[in-house]
Amino acid sequence: MLNELLDHNKLWAAKKAEQDAGYFQRLSALQHPDYLWIGCSDSRVPANVITGLEPGEVFVHRNVANLVHRGDLNLLSVLEFAVESLDIQDIIVCGHYGCGGVRAAMDGHRHGIIDHWLQPIRDVADANSSELNAMSGLEEKLDRLCELNIESQVESLARTPIIRSAWKRGKRLKIHGWVYGLNDGLLRDLQCDCCSPAETNTPAVETLSENSGSILNG
Ligand code: CO
Repeated sequence: MLNELLDHNKLWAAKKAEQDAGYFQRLSALQHPDYLWIGCSDSRVPANVITGLEPGEVFVHRNVANLVHRGDLNLLSVLEFAVESLDIQDIIVCGHYGCGGVRAAMDGHRHGIIDHWLQPIRDVADANSSELNAMSGLEEKLDRLCELNIESQVESLARTPIIRSAWKRGKRLKIHGWVYGLNDGLLRDLQCDCCSPAETNTPAVETLSENSGSILNG
């Protein structure tokens, strides 16, 4: 089975080189993607495939249930490199309906370490309990929670010092929230874009340190 993958790769590389002789030379010399994609690890939601993007066109970070944990050095390293070095201006947080991570967060069972990872989803559910409890079907509730989770992760990203510092410097940077339907293969814009610190309630990190200085000085 694994040999099949290697065989496919040889065919793919040969086809690319045949279509465009300088393709791999150009790609190896420079990556200049326009988008950072933060998505779910689910194998059915591959960023390049569903958006029609080629290698080199999207910088990707994926984890279970597309979460932005404030202390996740993996995600923060990707984010900083995307913003500071690749100069990416559009960040897409993409979740999907039927997300197993969202379901596992809410099924009341103990799964292991993943339960800690999924805690932000339960927090989002708690914060939106009146809306979710008013819905009758379980699938409908979980799908709505998928949307609410994406919106919440957009907000979490907007609060990171990396993003807030970039905005403070006047950098154009927009965070988008999208949801993908496994049933129809379509992406939907949740219209929860965030493009300036005015849309969050906390001051930029530089302001925080100025303030804490004045507090320390009495
Ligand atoms: Co998922």
